[in-house]
Amino acid sequence: VHREIEVSHRQGRYTIAFDRLENTFQGLSDAFFVTDTQVASHWRSLIPSSAKVLELPPGEQTKSLIWLERICSWLADEGATRSSVLVAFGGGVIGDLAGFAAAAYMRGIPYIQAPTTLLAQVDSSVGGKVAVDLPQGKNLIGAFNPPDRVAIDTQLISTLSLRQFRSGMAEVCKYGFILDRPLADELRSPLKQNRIPDIVFRCVELKKEAVEADEFETNGIRAKLNFGHTVGHALEQITGYGHFLHGEAIAVGMVAEAILGEDLEITPPGTSETVRSILETQGLPVRSDLLARSEELLAAMKRDKKAKRGALAFSLLTEIGGCKLVEGVGESQVLSALHKV
Ligand SMILES: NC(=O)c1ccc[n+]([C@@H]2O[C@H](COP(=O)([O-])OP(=O)(O)OC[C@H]3O[C@@H](n4cnc5c(N)ncnc54)[C@H](O)[C@@H]3O)[C@@H](O)[C@H]2O)c1
Ligand SMILES: [Zn+2]
Repeated sequence: VHREIEVSHRQGRYTIAFDRLENTFQGLSDAFFVTDTQVASHWRSLIPSSAKVLELPPGEQTKSLIWLERICSWLADEGATRSSVLVAFGGGVIGDLAGFAAAAYMRGIPYIQAPTTLLAQVDSSVGGKVAVDLPQGKNLIGAFNPPDRVAIDTQLISTLSLRQFRSGMAEVCKYGFILDRPLADELRSPLKQNRIPDIVFRCVELKKEAVEADEFETNGIRAKLNFGHTVGHALEQITGYGHFLHGEAIAVGMVAEAILGEDLEITPPGTSETVRSILETQGLPVRSDLLARSEELLAAMKRDKKAKRGALAFSLLTEIGGCKLVEGVGESQVLSALHKV
């Protein structure tokens, strides 16, 4: 079934199309595809033969200024102009990097997000945030650059490793926990393959609502999507991004933040047990020995972008299916929650 979602933003609107990628890619002319070798090894045949293609090494290390320059040099060498279209064909790394190249090359050319991981389909391809990393931190150089179109084909998920798939499922669980009780309830049982298209669609609807209400992350609505991420990002940071996949870190983070919410009497008692059990059902980690490094984690959390002058902020559950942003949470409360996980 072909479906569409429209996203409005300050300069206009774009369509998120749920369709076979063959259909989306067929009509393209003057197209420049940026992908990674892993995606290309499975799905290169989807790229029209008339298109120019640049294959990058897979992995977060590629989301750098060096590769941004290489993409722009390639576009220049191959004669890309403002009437060309760049296609970001890959996971969140390719989406963020190529989306930033599209913002910068010739001060901006059109681009399409064609996300190939579950995480990129339910999260990173929607909302226009693009960036590269610096050695000092993730996403430190970037822009808000809405795409001209997002093309989601859930068939592409079939070639993901189980570990990558589960990592994306952590974001799906997150949408259920913070915004959608029926979705959370469905995730109490192992997921049936044939439910994936509807579930991806639902998550994109929820992300659309948040980004339309808070395009530039100024009023706290987008920050609410960060449930599990204050602790999760800290876990990723203290392990140098080499230990956890993003979804694994936020799964542990969601358990910790559910406990924190219970301790602060914002989250009803027993909710953290439900969160833990759903994440376990979806094959995700729900505890980690690394939580014992609580002082290091706390220091990392103070650098979180939701923190204001060292005061910690969390998106906390008000129920399964509801959440709110809570600022000024005390350090001792956080430490105590980390120890209880
Ligand atoms: N812009 C945003 O709003 C936003 C939101 C969340 C995350 N992100 C960013 O997204 C990035 C993580 O994205 P990701 O998890 O998609 O990682 P990724 O792009 O590194 O993809 C994960 C791995 O899966 C492989 N892969 C991709 N599609 C595949 C497919 N269909 N079949 C087989 N293998 C495939 C890739 O080659 C890679 O090795 C991070 O850099 C993060 O900062 C951005
Ligand atoms: Zn996330």
